[in-house]
Amino acid sequence: MLDPYRVREDFPILNRTVNNYPLIYFDNAATSQKPRQVIEAMTKFYQEHNANVHRAVHTLSQEATELYEKAHEEVAKFINARHAEEIIFVRGATEAINLIAYSWALRELGEDDEILLSLMEHHSNIVPWEVTSKIRGFKVKYVDVNSDGTLNYKALEKMISEKTKMVSISHVSNVTGVINDIERIAKIAHENGALLFVDGAQSVPHMPVDVRDMDIDFLAFSGHKMLGPTGIGVLYGKLELLREMEPFQGGGEMIRNVTYNDEQGRCSISWNDVPWRFEAGTPNICGGIGLMAAVNYLRNLGIENVFQHERNLTEYTLKRMSELSRIRIYGPMDCTKRCGIIPFNVDGLESHDVALFLDNYGIMIRSGFHCAQPLHQRLGLSSTARVSFYVYNTREEVDRFIEILKEMEQV
Ligand SMILES: Cc1ncc(COP(=O)(O)O)c(C=O)c1O
Repeated sequence: MLDPYRVREDFPILNRTVNNYPLIYFDNAATSQKPRQVIEAMTKFYQEHNANVHRAVHTLSQEATELYEKAHEEVAKFINARHAEEIIFVRGATEAINLIAYSWALRELGEDDEILLSLMEHHSNIVPWEVTSKIRGFKVKYVDVNSDGTLNYKALEKMISEKTKMVSISHVSNVTGVINDIERIAKIAHENGALLFVDGAQSVPHMPVDVRDMDIDFLAFSGHKMLGPTGIGVLYGKLELLREMEPFQGGGEMIRNVTYNDEQGRCSISWNDVPWRFEAGTPNICGGIGLMAAVNYLRNLGIENVFQHERNLTEYTLKRMSELSRIRIYGPMDCTKRCGIIPFNVDGLESHDVALFLDNYGIMIRSGFHCAQPLHQRLGLSSTARVSFYVYNTREEVDRFIEILKEMEQV
């Protein structure tokens, strides 16, 4: 079992106070805090190994390259990818989705084609498809959700057809914490000849994700939500699919040869191998090394233990919150259907006022749309307050949160 009190010792920021109260950080779906193992790995890189990768023959560059490539290998193991080449380092989940929208959808799809999303998607899994669909004329369609925020699988089965070339869906909703059944969706997509893109921004940090068992074609996630630094994230893709794809951005690192042709007065270019073909320019080397440290940290805790810890905390929080009279909780009350994210409202109060009230007591939560406006629209909500847990959160913190909510109810 995971001991959050032992884990907390690794997170320097948790020692600080906010407004003279001990910090309670419940905004983990937005970004996570960083353990000293990640901070130290990044400092060590800059202090001892800093150089550019894949370019020079000197010792520092060799060391930096080795570390950077090892980071790809460790991430590949974490999600059980077959090959380290299937791991592309990008800025975050957002860039990973854009990469596929621009490198794949923009080139492969036409007016007769369709992409299926769901109404629970984060804006990053909506906007890139809407933008590229306007250029190429393919259709973007949205699978409905039920009133508790769970996916309507019957609607998915009805909407999918031979026109569907990709289903792009989040594994876990960043608003309700609803967990989608990826194996089931993969089966539906593949039986209909469509590819499956999974937005794993809210799942990879919190639960076991096995791209082979789940038969995922593309997976996106962000380092900063899983104890790593900002500015680094991952696009996983099946090797055979990535090898067929053209690059997203052009520049150094992603080419094999650029040859000037005198007669034509222009350059002919050949692409580098996967994954470097998709990592144009100097990459976020230190970020990759920080992500490797984060992945190792999570592996040491055991991702199954992380999941169980958050599930226990969620169960406890839902029970305690339902004792309160002015609180409305959204999403399924059945804890097997959700992760450690709880959206709620306090009757008569705006979500931002709820968040500000809690901030006065050192409790950090998110308020607003959480970049998922269509889901709020579908559920008839103008906005929500949201608590989201991670490895360092405790029941004691939940008790304090409930205490302040009770005080708020008296206002
Ligand atoms: C479900 C989901 N997808 C995508 C993203 C985008 O992640 P990033 O901003 O790190 O690119 C987020 C961030 O909150 C998210 O929750």
